[in-house]
Amino acid sequence: MRVTLFGASGLLGKALTREWQTDSVVGLSSRDVDIRDQKRVQTLVEEQHPEWIVLAAAYTNVDGCESNPELAFGVNRDGAVNVAKAARMVGSRLLFLSSDYVFDGKKTSSYEIGDARNPQSVYGRSKAEAELKLLELLPNCCIVRTSWLFGTGGKCFPDTILKLAASRATLDVVNDQRGSPTYVVDLARAIIQLCRKESAGIVHATNTGDCTWFEFAQEIVRNAGLKTEIRPVSSEKMARPAPRPAYSVLSPESMQAFGITMPAWQDALRRYLEERAR
Ligand SMILES: NC(=O)c1ccc[n+]([C@@H]2O[C@H](COP(=O)([O-])OP(=O)(O)OC[C@H]3O[C@@H](n4cnc5c(N)ncnc54)[C@H](OP(=O)(O)O)[C@@H]3O)[C@@H](O)[C@H]2O)c1
Repeated sequence: MRVTLFGASGLLGKALTREWQTDSVVGLSSRDVDIRDQKRVQTLVEEQHPEWIVLAAAYTNVDGCESNPELAFGVNRDGAVNVAKAARMVGSRLLFLSSDYVFDGKKTSSYEIGDARNPQSVYGRSKAEAELKLLELLPNCCIVRTSWLFGTGGKCFPDTILKLAASRATLDVVNDQRGSPTYVVDLARAIIQLCRKESAGIVHATNTGDCTWFEFAQEIVRNAGLKTEIRPVSSEKMARPAPRPAYSVLSPESMQAFGITMPAWQDALRRYLEERAR
């Protein structure tokens, strides 16, 4: 299978490049192509003529999106549309990475794929609008919503906590946002299976189980054998430019329908810490 991967230099892109061994994968970063440049996207996709395009490229700075909506919508929505048009032109399948932030976080049980989108941030809106446009352009595309990514290929929450915990006796971490941490290695493996299974439609793909950022930080510090005290605080106290959903746990049912189960986040965290120590 021939695959073109946009966003190959990102956290998920690096894991996908490592995990995707038996197919022919061409990985592209923003240095190879800016997905806002429709002509360049079109030329590359025509040259490569892949069976699958995986679109993991995005402007992922959630707070940065609030102050630069033009960039957020330019890359996350319009860039995605450029890739979808190119995919349609050459008859490639498209798998697009989306986010739990398309939801408002007001539910108290896990979000199903058919639940209404109601994003509260610019980043969430840019992803939600991309989803709608892609489904219009390419009704058989696969939209994979995921959440709280961590891995060794870049900045992520466990890495930040470990670096801070190394020099601090206490750390304040928000305890009123609940979601599912997701190890990019497990997500990459799920994405590869989804492509091999010719998947279409919206799929929720996260590690199993959920926690708050506070609980996640506690588990990180405990696993690393550190003594730092993690203290629970409210989002209000740690105010940030972009609002985050209070609850964004995604139901695994859509993944299970493809016969895919992802490991528990605690198990994923242990494997991440082992990988990080190597
Ligand atoms: N991180 C999370 O917690 C999270 C949660 C839910 C969903 N997601 C989604 O999952 C996907 C992967 O996220 P990630 O954390 O791996 O992202 P990331 O580490 O921020 O990487 C982003 C990738 O996109 C590329 N990129 C950025 N702007 C581009 C542009 N204009 N044209 C072409 N490429 C561009 C970057 O290339 P350069 O390195 O060259 O800049 C990089 O390869 C994204 O769609 C993201 O929205 C992430």
